[in-house]
Amino acid sequence: MRRVRRSSWLLGSLACLCLASLPGLALGAEAPPAHKYVGAKKCMSCHKKELIGDQWGKWKQGPHAKAFETLKSPKAAELAKKKGIAGPPHEAGECVECHMTGYGLPASAFAKAPLLAADGVQCESCHGPGADYKSKKVMSDHAKAVAKGMWETEKDEKICLACHNEKSPTWDPAKGFDFEAAKEEIAHPIPEDVKGKYLEIVKQRKAQGASDD
Ligand code: HEC
Ligand code: HEC
Ligand code: HEC
Ligand code: HEC
Repeated sequence: MRRVRRSSWLLGSLACLCLASLPGLALGAEAPPAHKYVGAKKCMSCHKKELIGDQWGKWKQGPHAKAFETLKSPKAAELAKKKGIAGPPHEAGECVECHMTGYGLPASAFAKAPLLAADGVQCESCHGPGADYKSKKVMSDHAKAVAKGMWETEKDEKICLACHNEKSPTWDPAKGFDFEAAKEEIAHPIPEDVKGKYLEIVKQRKAQGASDD
């Protein structure tokens, strides 16, 4: 009797394993995303350059890059306790889900490895998973980039509201979320005289003998 139960358990778990390893059938997950996540370090290679506006540096200085670190603060511990969470907040899914990029997604959502929690809320939480739009040529053509999965963040408040909402324990309903003010607060623009012309400018500079862009 015992033996039978054990083998049916084994069969059951084998069936689970097979299902879980079929692409698109990861248990408990949604259909695999059309585009994969690459992580902010991939964006850094181009977007830390002064000429393009150092978006990397501005993100690093801003609130999102340190969003996971925040979960280790005394204030986070206090908020978690109030919600009845027993362990540390940086190990609780109910907190981590909004304090990092790509939490809880199946392995198939990532180009290489799942993103590191320590990197917090990264570029792709706001600009879309970047595996297919991250080349220079694609990125220089707005319509092409959008076709390859880049989101139009500047005009889509819903992207922010995925995390800036009443499920956040620090949400203040009286304040709500002011999209225009919030964008201003985290601004990291491409300089106006460079926007749309980056590749052209780099080409000119190279022709003039400059070694770096
Ligand atoms: C629905 C998304 C969401 C969830 C879930 C969430 N947070 Fe946050 N958290 C935010 C956002 C967005 C902010 C930025 C401030 C704001 O607008 O609430 C934030 C800010 C914070 C801050 C900084 C507050 C400050 O004043 O400096 C702490 C600490 C924090 N969260 C802890 C937690 C803890 C602990 C949990 C789990 C119990 C949690 N968060 C769950 C979205 C979330
Ligand atoms: C929390 C959301 C958020 C994160 C994280 C974020 N961005 Fe952005 N980004 C925005 C928004 C919103 C805009 C549009 C601002 C506007 O036009 O008002 C923007 C604009 C940009 C632009 C275009 C600027 C222009 O002048 O057209 C670039 C390039 C960019 N981001 C790159 C990055 C990179 C690279 C990272 C990561 C290192 C990053 N962003 C992280 C929200 C974000
Ligand atoms: C994946 C979740 C997530 C998304 C998407 C997101 N944020 Fe945040 N945001 C956070 C968290 C978490 C914090 C708090 C970080 C901390 O204090 O450590 C935060 C903090 C901020 C802050 C500073 C604190 C505040 O509430 O004023 C601003 C401004 C902000 N976000 C703007 C934006 C904008 C604009 C967008 C959309 C373009 C956006 N965020 C999208 C999670 C997110
Ligand atoms: C190989 C270099 C390179 C990489 C890697 C790269 N970008 Fe770009 N990105 C560019 C160039 C070049 C532009 C266009 C600059 C211009 O001329 O305006 C651009 C433009 C952008 C824009 C503005 C596009 C628009 O049409 O509004 C955003 C947003 C952006 N990048 C985000 C990202 C994010 C997020 C990543 C990582 C997933 C990334 N980029 C990776 C080179 C790169």
